[in-house]
Amino acid sequence: MNERSTISTGVTPRFSEEALRQIETIFKRYPAERRQSAVMPILHLAQREFGGWLSRESLDYVAELVAMPPIRVYEVATFYTMYNLKPVGRYHVQACTNISCWLCGSDQVMDSLKRKLKLSVGETSEDKRFTLAEVECLGACVNAPMMQINDDYYENLTADKVAEIIDRLP
Ligand code: FES
Repeated sequence: MNERSTISTGVTPRFSEEALRQIETIFKRYPAERRQSAVMPILHLAQREFGGWLSRESLDYVAELVAMPPIRVYEVATFYTMYNLKPVGRYHVQACTNISCWLCGSDQVMDSLKRKLKLSVGETSEDKRFTLAEVECLGACVNAPMMQINDDYYENLTADKVAEIIDRLP
């Protein structure tokens, strides 16, 4: 099994009532006969609802909702790195190492993160507090180097700033 394989938990998740209302709103953005176009925002919602990652069963559930063959949903979910295919920590730390960030010091940022978190890329801390990931461009090149922690961007980073940011997390 590689990094982008799906994992089965044997448990079929179910969306909350609130999430189902959001899904109806998402479907309204697309023509009725193009329900499948909603697959990406619904996968995103599923990831939020189901603990920050997508199990095989979550993907199957989404496939059923958007009336797509499961394999096509797996293709989407395994292609885009924004979908987590294994459990992640409470803080998902994603450091960009793409060209603009690299030219502006992402190596130092990444080294600082590894030291501070005592993790290598792809690892989750034993207490499940942190997962460290290396990602491609997150579209904030103008303020490189940068990282994303859960929904927040942190830009113009230095090795020292990174350590301070981690220390300030609740
Ligand atoms: Fe890092 Fe674009 S290269 S945000």
